[in-house]
Amino acid sequence: MSTILPERYKKSLCYMTFSRTSMWSVVRSMKSFHTLHEGCAMLTRLPGTQDFLDLVLYNRLLEQIRTHFMRAGFHEIATPIIEPTELFQRSLGTETDVITKELYYVISRHTPPEEQYKLCLRPEATAATMRAYLNNTIVAHPWSVFTIGPMFRHERHQKGRYRQFHQANIELVNTSSITQDARLIMLLDRFFTVTLGLRAYALLINFMGCHADREKFIEQLRPFIEKHKEKLCESCIRRSQTNILRIFDCKEQACRDLYATAPHITDHLCAQCTHEWSHLQTTLEQLGVTYSHQPLLVRGLDYYEKTVFEFVSTNLGAQNTFCGGGRYSRIASELGAAQDVPAVGAALGIERLLMLIEELGAQANAQPPLYLIVPLSREQHIVALHLADLLNEHGYTAEPLLEEGSLKNMLRLANKRGAHTCLLIGSEEQESKTVLIKRMLTGAEQRVAQAEVVAYLKT
Ligand code: HAM
Repeated sequence: MSTILPERYKKSLCYMTFSRTSMWSVVRSMKSFHTLHEGCAMLTRLPGTQDFLDLVLYNRLLEQIRTHFMRAGFHEIATPIIEPTELFQRSLGTETDVITKELYYVISRHTPPEEQYKLCLRPEATAATMRAYLNNTIVAHPWSVFTIGPMFRHERHQKGRYRQFHQANIELVNTSSITQDARLIMLLDRFFTVTLGLRAYALLINFMGCHADREKFIEQLRPFIEKHKEKLCESCIRRSQTNILRIFDCKEQACRDLYATAPHITDHLCAQCTHEWSHLQTTLEQLGVTYSHQPLLVRGLDYYEKTVFEFVSTNLGAQNTFCGGGRYSRIASELGAAQDVPAVGAALGIERLLMLIEELGAQANAQPPLYLIVPLSREQHIVALHLADLLNEHGYTAEPLLEEGSLKNMLRLANKRGAHTCLLIGSEEQESKTVLIKRMLTGAEQRVAQAEVVAYLKT
């Protein structure tokens, strides 16, 4: 970007890049750069990406996730955003859409042509969490961790589906206990209901059996597909050859109607898996977690076996899954470990959760009330700065309004900013060391000594 910037703007761009300035001020600075350069094409963000212009709700959600899972014994980790492509090819399967169509590759000036596809931006966090488990000497058993951050998939973008999106990814690594699956599902369900207050959602569950069950089931499915081949859509015909279980993800009604009559994987489980599937259901019932068994639920990534689940909401439109996960064990050996490592995990889609929370009207609650200190002329600026400083020190969100203008204009500006209370200081207030406190909603006013402002606001 700096290469297209004239010299005199490079300095300010560096400031924007390296200072700890807020997202909002970056956007504002970019705007002023654009308006200064008439005749130069307006730069816009990439399709499928977003500017977050207010992170209050976003940060609050992340804090709630952290608190909830840390209380349950999980700890936060971070893995790189850039990883070897092979990490995902080996663990997600080479036939999944994420690998065949959606990876973002990373090259630098030093990348030789034959290595152009060797590095990528992570499309998900499970494979990297398992890599981190294998690369480091982890003794915890299970290793209960979560990571929060951006993921990248070159998908057809639409509401709720982005090319850069965020996940909170939770994993319990090195546990074969199916009770842990029920526990993780319960923790997620409690988070959505109790912490976030979500109501209009459903938990869909399926059990895909162990690797051998899955392979056996595929053999059972093939004759069924062969028999009804002419009724399948093009994409299902292709999938039936490359990744047959993914046919169940098809959105075409004719295919869905047909698959309703297809064999169910839960009817073809080995003895141990039958027992585990039954244990999972009973445990969820005993924990008071409401779920619906969806025999066609297979999930889009190839590593799953046994438990798979999704939390879906009708309030989200077409992209209705806001959390998905399941059990897996073979990622470790695919990555080169001597043995499989059983694990279970899930990822929460932050953007989709934010859409659900916003619908509940949480936006208004998330914003702390804003106190604006309004000096009526430049002579009162220093008092205003002191008062804002004092209020910030006592935990109030307070800011001086340092624009110059008539009282009417200043109050109009304060209204636009959504101020909860204005503290007005004119020459009279300056002299008598008072401030006029104006409640913006009711219009009620009260003159208070500057030294007693905090005590007054507290009451
Ligand atoms: P996933 O189903 O691919 O699973 O993604 C999990 C969640 O991330 C989705 O339910 C959705 O809310 C969100 N998500 C996925 N793609 C997008 C997108 N393009 N735009 C917005 N949100 C999106 C996984 O990623 C697994 N690694 C989950 C897991 C963890 N399984 C075991 N452990």
